[in-house]
Amino acid sequence: MNIFEILREEHDNISKFVDKFEIMAIDLMEKNEISIEEYTKAIEFIRVYADKTHHQKEEELLFKAMLETKDEMANNLVNHGMIVEHNLARLYVWKLENALKAYQKEPTVKLKLAIVTNTMSYVYLLRRHIDKENRVAYPYGERLLSKEVIEKLNEQAQNYMK
Ligand SMILES: [Fe+2]
Ligand SMILES: [Fe+2]
Repeated sequence: MNIFEILREEHDNISKFVDKFEIMAIDLMEKNEISIEEYTKAIEFIRVYADKTHHQKEEELLFKAMLETKDEMANNLVNHGMIVEHNLARLYVWKLENALKAYQKEPTVKLKLAIVTNTMSYVYLLRRHIDKENRVAYPYGERLLSKEVIEKLNEQAQNYMK
């Protein structure tokens, strides 16, 4: 698999997770049910897979190579778009984690709202982010980078072990 196929496959896995994550928020609203274990696992998936395996791989390999070309459009796309959204995703997860901890001590409606809001903020952000990368950022990178650079990225992506 080349780097774009690897990253797109990861998008498919993250999209499946995001759909399940949305159902967790719906259950909390509809049935007033919350499984702390399920949320802990979800946060673990986001941190380990979505963020470390996927976002970090984009940042350290593909986006880094795009920025090295000094192309202005690439700079806008990456620095003012994709990286900003990665950081926003990290912020929502951090806020969700804090709300969950507080909810365990004191299950108020206000904290329940914070859990639902931050879960759904992550869901909406990631759906839009993945779509933008699939339709705009990756195709642009594919056109911008030389064959040699892409070949090197393919190899690094296959061996990326974080
Ligand atoms: Fe991304
Ligand atoms: Fe991505």
